[in-house]
Amino acid sequence: MNIALGADHGGYAYKEAIKEMLIADGHTVLDVGTDSTESVDYPDYGTKAAHLVRDGQAEAGVLVCGSGIGISIAANKVRSIRAANCTSVEMAQLARMHNNANMVAVGERLMSVDLARDIVRAFLSTPFEGGRHERRVEKIDSLGDIQ
Ligand code: RB5
Repeated sequence: MNIALGADHGGYAYKEAIKEMLIADGHTVLDVGTDSTESVDYPDYGTKAAHLVRDGQAEAGVLVCGSGIGISIAANKVRSIRAANCTSVEMAQLARMHNNANMVAVGERLMSVDLARDIVRAFLSTPFEGGRHERRVEKIDSLGDIQ
């Protein structure tokens, strides 16, 4: 898969670790930065990665900041993005199965790097269940048109 990957300074170290794992797993990584631990603004990187998913250049996206919160909120401002901030493997699986999330966010300051990698792997390998969830996801996407 082509995977968009973005982080702020608070997520830089885990972004690098996740990138290494994704490449080893055979994915193509589209890394939008940041490229160091120098302080930057997470909305810039959340939206850059989200644009790659929105435009179809990436099939999924991975985001990292200190908590996963700010960067996922920013990504969710982009049309057709459903970014789920996950703190467990089960959340990542549910985000795919029920919500057809197309981006996953993790918080470097809240979990081990092993858990962050497990969450990303679970997210990328879990299919959407469709069925009754399809209508609900369509309703989420249509919210962008009525606001
Ligand atoms: C940066 O200090 C921190 O606020 C950011 O990485 C993130 O946790 C925001 O939600």
